[in-house]
Amino acid sequence: MSGKTWGGRFREATDPDVERFTESVSFDARLYEQDIAASQAHARMLAKAGLLTATEAEQIVQTLEAIREEIASGRFPWRQELEDIHTHIEHALVERLGDVGRKLHTARSRNDQVATDLRLWIRDAIDRLDNLLSEFQRAFLERAEAEREVILPGYTHLQRAQPILAGHYFCAWIEKWQRDRDRLSDCRKRVNVLPLGSAALAGTSLPIDLELVREQLGFADVCRNSLDAVSDRDFAVEFVSALSLLAVHLSDWAEEWILWTTTEFGFLELPDRFCTGSSIMPHKKNPDVLELIRGKCGRVIGRLVQLLTLLKGLPLAYNRDLQEDKPAVFDASDTVESCLRVAVPLVRSSRLRSTRIAERIESGFLDATTLMEHLVSRGIPLRTAHELVGRLVQECERRGCTLAELSPEIWEAVQSGLSSTVYEVLGARNAINAFRSAGSTARTEVEKQLTYWRKRLRNDEPATGR
Ligand code: ARG
Repeated sequence: MSGKTWGGRFREATDPDVERFTESVSFDARLYEQDIAASQAHARMLAKAGLLTATEAEQIVQTLEAIREEIASGRFPWRQELEDIHTHIEHALVERLGDVGRKLHTARSRNDQVATDLRLWIRDAIDRLDNLLSEFQRAFLERAEAEREVILPGYTHLQRAQPILAGHYFCAWIEKWQRDRDRLSDCRKRVNVLPLGSAALAGTSLPIDLELVREQLGFADVCRNSLDAVSDRDFAVEFVSALSLLAVHLSDWAEEWILWTTTEFGFLELPDRFCTGSSIMPHKKNPDVLELIRGKCGRVIGRLVQLLTLLKGLPLAYNRDLQEDKPAVFDASDTVESCLRVAVPLVRSSRLRSTRIAERIESGFLDATTLMEHLVSRGIPLRTAHELVGRLVQECERRGCTLAELSPEIWEAVQSGLSSTVYEVLGARNAINAFRSAGSTARTEVEKQLTYWRKRLRNDEPATGR
């Protein structure tokens, strides 16, 4: 039974179609670094446990190192009949070391091996994503600092609502990216637990020491229950779920900026190098990067649904279905990573079209709510003030003017003395100046946020992978 690690009880060779159908090396080869690191830790532990001599363990560790380099250099021969990455590496080891290589799989199974590899892979991916998200936040912070004073119309229902400082706007996104990071780092806690040693499902009768493996691989803990350890993929679901919400946020942001680049809005200028043109319409400059970021969200959510459906109805413990987890995890992770890689420089190099924005900032009655609050502060009941301002807005619409353009007599008719204070809150800029609540778009509140993020993101130590 050439190359098969399980050939002993079989009388006929595997059907080639079955080999093609069951192989996973076409997608799990990318676990090779994790697989080798875990095998090296396992071999060292076996030596301490007396199941290998120190020399044998050393030979195994060195040879695995050579195999790692061979794979990295692209010279490693992949063979479908060797199924997966685990068998390939073990096979290459046996080819080189003979009987010594045949000892490596002592006290383990591919079931705990693949669970370990995937956890190591996701842990690295989380650390990479965390670094990227931190950079992404810093890009938003740069925009916030550079454009903090630009007054933007804030929207609800995509209708003009109240004025906001651009600094406030950019900080809102920084908050969302932070929660995305927090979710990933929370997920990392459950990823960072060692399943190796669970063997096939029930553990092993051999005297292994999981603690030695845990320490070498930098896991925070060891799985308590072998049955659970080989069957658990919750950590993968959590990972892809955190990625899905991140992808949803990315699509929201992308959609907003796509709107902002339209002639209708004209709020944002994207650099040419992040746009593409049309093959027929010579004037076009399309925000394809943002559109693809928006579109890729569907793919990530699809991977989440794929994973959840895959896991539904699986009895304990390992089932081959689980092999299908990897394409979902890898693709979701790659997709989000690719979005962030292109999004960071895009944010850095985009600019608000502040003149265009300012030209139309007085339309849409952005100051109406502040006016209403001004009336309240002068003793008029809120409901009365609401109705009053509503009627004034109607009047302005009829005349085609702004609230600030209404004459003093109108205000005096509302309340005597009002005309001497009301103009201080009318107009988008005055409305901004009137804000004061914590977390509002008041200048001082925005400055607080900027200070907070400046400090927090500066202290951002990149995660180390351990
Ligand atoms: N390629 C398999 C997977 O990814 C590895 C584990 C296979 N275990 C087994 N007993 N067939 O799930």
